[in-house]
Amino acid sequence: MTDAELPAPYGDGGATPAPRAEASDGRKRPGRVRIQHLQQAKEEGRHFAMLTAYDRYAAQVFDDAGIEVLLIGDSAANNVLGHATTLPITLDEMILFSRTVSLAASKALVVADLPFGSYEVSPEQAVESSVRLLKEGLVHAVKMEGSAAYADTVRALVRAGIPVMAHIGFTPQSEHALGGYRVQGRGETAQRLLDDALALEEAGAFCVLMEMVPGEVARSIDAALGVPTIGIGAGAGTTGQVLVWQDMAGLRGGRQATFVKQYADLRGTLSDAARSFAAEVRSGTFPGPEHSF
Ligand code: KIV
Repeated sequence: MTDAELPAPYGDGGATPAPRAEASDGRKRPGRVRIQHLQQAKEEGRHFAMLTAYDRYAAQVFDDAGIEVLLIGDSAANNVLGHATTLPITLDEMILFSRTVSLAASKALVVADLPFGSYEVSPEQAVESSVRLLKEGLVHAVKMEGSAAYADTVRALVRAGIPVMAHIGFTPQSEHALGGYRVQGRGETAQRLLDDALALEEAGAFCVLMEMVPGEVARSIDAALGVPTIGIGAGAGTTGQVLVWQDMAGLRGGRQATFVKQYADLRGTLSDAARSFAAEVRSGTFPGPEHSF
């Protein structure tokens, strides 16, 4: 293998370094991020990054950038398919996005959401759906929304050899039951959130994601758990952080949630590119001789 063929090293300053394997020429190269590397990050007090991905090129870019975990979120319902909520996306649609991302990512741990309706009926239903996500979607783990009431389901998945990321706090699949997008775990409900996290950890979840939870509550839950936590709108006290990639890169227009930080203006960049293309087509500047056979 030549130097040019070696995968680019991780190097995002501050995030968890990827595990490294020996290449045939003796050089170190990144290996796959696995659940034990997230656990190591927690034990060593390091943070790691997760982004959603739903398509090939975004997955490749994030994988090359050293993002440790790629999530095929059921937020594909909103961000790709144009629905108002995450509820309509189907398991078949999730499998399609999952397979695309899994084939594109060579280093990140790839996790897919169990979509609404694919796991609530019974632990058996959850195992069947997750097996499809691993077998057909080629992902390494599943994420499941739900409280301590789903501990038996987590147990069944773990027994089947399927790593589970638990998702508590604001769980978008229950947005109608929760009465809309609301911060969870304020006041006395903080204890319930901690109980949920402990029960899901005890059932075997390798990680607990918290969405829209007061920062201090999330920090104390992270401290109480042995497994790593991931936050979105949960302050700075979790082991990892996740954002939806189109929010992170500024592709989505309109009002942003308080917890979103935009690291680029992709919407502006794409819009400028599209306008320039159209202007050059209209003026006859494109295609030029260099683009013609
Ligand atoms: O579906 C999703 O995008 C999520 C978030 C936590 C990022 O679950």
